[in-house]
Amino acid sequence: MARGNEFLGSEWAIMCGAMSWVSERNLVSAISDAGGFGVIACGAMTPDLLDTEIAATKALTSKPFGVNLITMHPDLFALIEVCARHNVSHVVLAGGIPPKGSVDAIKQGGAKVICFAPTMALGKKLLRSGADALVIEGMEAGGHVGPVSTSVLAQEILPALASEALIFVAGGIGRGEAIASYLEMGACGVQLGTRFACASESIAHPDFKKAFFRASARDAITSVQVDARLPVIPVRALKNKGTEEFTAKQIEVAKLLDAGAVEMGEAQLQIEHYWAGALRRAVIDGDVENGSIMAGQSVGMVKSEEPVADIIAALLTECEAAFTQRTMA
Ligand SMILES: Cc1cc2nc3c(=O)[nH]c(=O)nc-3n(C[C@H](O)[C@H](O)[C@H](O)COP(=O)(O)O)c2cc1C
Repeated sequence: MARGNEFLGSEWAIMCGAMSWVSERNLVSAISDAGGFGVIACGAMTPDLLDTEIAATKALTSKPFGVNLITMHPDLFALIEVCARHNVSHVVLAGGIPPKGSVDAIKQGGAKVICFAPTMALGKKLLRSGADALVIEGMEAGGHVGPVSTSVLAQEILPALASEALIFVAGGIGRGEAIASYLEMGACGVQLGTRFACASESIAHPDFKKAFFRASARDAITSVQVDARLPVIPVRALKNKGTEEFTAKQIEVAKLLDAGAVEMGEAQLQIEHYWAGALRRAVIDGDVENGSIMAGQSVGMVKSEEPVADIIAALLTECEAAFTQRTMA
């Protein structure tokens, strides 16, 4: 983990992945203060809102933290400028291939760039284009996911790239033993989201947290695409009335398309907009029936509200015990 610690400037290369609405000043500063690495989720924030959030986080912690920007944000370059103005040390680019000039713009502002690598070929390309580190995230994770599991991505990518590149593993990590095994395979650190979402310092609504504590791994399902004409990016979330209605909505819109009652563009927009605001409804308003309770499969290992420092301490103890056992064996 030493390479990861040095790269992030944190005590431990345990990143708390950005979670929209959850990863704000309180959770981010708590993670960094506890020796991990917090990351602000910019999501759909305007540059002004991001400016306020970074300033507020800096007021709560003197430790380094990062900012996660979504590549398709219409004001991406203005957001990059805000990060540079605040001397943010690390920017994570999520949600697709970084647009032309974005990696260079971040580096010119003095920050390190971390990108998501969905495949080995793309990982190599991102490193060639200037990414300083990669995150490989499997489909066990909460939120938007790809089709491949963490264990397969790790086996494909770590042995090939980890000696020359900094790679963080994410998706499905709930305990320190798993961290030990990815470190052993060459990862320089890890990223967790689900395990931290309900920490005492998280501002998530009590009902959102209760839904996590009650859930088991098999409740965290991915959204299903019903019609080839209406693309759906899979999102892993706890099943509820909202996830069922989303399937019904797709069928309804597909029927309207068949009948020629809507244009293709309008139909696709209706699908895309269905979930807009749904995560906020669950996290902030506590509407766990209709909102989107994004959660990874490790949700079954989240049983109660714990301070961030205790979660990190438990992960490190489990990780160390795994290494000790291996040394003794
Ligand atoms: C509630 C929730 C919201 C998330 N929102 C985002 C986001 O806005 N941007 C992003 O890049 N990843 C997002 N993620 C993914 C996390 O940053 C992280 O990579 C993921 O949770 C790691 O896998 P795990 O959930 O199995 O620990 C979200 C995850 C959760 C659980």
